[in-house]
Amino acid sequence: MARPTVHLTAPVPAEVQAALTRDFEIVDGPEGADGILVALTARIDDAYLERAGAQLRVVANYAVGVNNIDLDAAAARGVLVTNTPGVLTRATAELAVGLTISLLRRIAEGDRFVRRRSAWEFSLEFMLGASLDGKEFLVVGPGRIGRETARLAEAFGARPSFAGRDDELAELLGRADVVSLHVPLTDPTRHLIDAAALASMRPTAVLVNVSRGPVVDERALVDALRAGTIAGAALDVYEREPEVEEGLLELENVVLTPHLGSATRDTRIAMGMLCVEALRDVLLEGRRPANAVG
Ligand code: DGY
Repeated sequence: MARPTVHLTAPVPAEVQAALTRDFEIVDGPEGADGILVALTARIDDAYLERAGAQLRVVANYAVGVNNIDLDAAAARGVLVTNTPGVLTRATAELAVGLTISLLRRIAEGDRFVRRRSAWEFSLEFMLGASLDGKEFLVVGPGRIGRETARLAEAFGARPSFAGRDDELAELLGRADVVSLHVPLTDPTRHLIDAAALASMRPTAVLVNVSRGPVVDERALVDALRAGTIAGAALDVYEREPEVEEGLLELENVVLTPHLGSATRDTRIAMGMLCVEALRDVLLEGRRPANAVG
């Protein structure tokens, strides 16, 4: 019997590719594919689904965030969408805390300083930062990654609190030293952190974003950083990714990484294996995968 066909929108780790080729025929384009394994850089909209064709049964997103997929269009066509929850929780939380410490202790700034071969010698008032110890650490979006970030931050002495959908965000922002974003990108969370939200933060507070870029109004963030409305920002994701707002590049009180939240080898393999499992569930076993979305 012919094996189900799967199209990959991007290369995957060798271990994942090997698992895929055991059960599926990998095809070059989405046209005629039974399943699609999607990297978050691919936008899966109705036109893409139309191009794939009526035989398409499952779209396995190689990410936990599914904002790159038109879920309504997929549902209307009877295409199941799956994601990769759980396996990237620790890696992403680790990065959030790593970025926070890098910002507070000026690690990236110090690295840039040394690499420029700037003249320096140890002195008691030189490049002083702040500790995470004792800081009010507000997690916006208390899902798996948000809760794990809080747990890790707490191990460094921070005092975590949470802002969920129904909380008065401005009030919580006004009490935080660190604001760490962990919400999915949806219509209500687009520009959740806008000029008004930034204005309600303390001038000594910092913003950390490992969720999705458009959750923050990047231009308003640059204005707030320039004006001293907030003290710094650490970003792993960008509003017009992979573009980065020019103003951010010039600021020393900003740490920038290129969407590395889940970027450990083990995590990426585990994410890939969840995708393979989902494809197997749907295309070989005819059952709904545990990580189906919606
Ligand atoms: C996710 O899974 O949503 C991450 O952003 C991918 O690294």
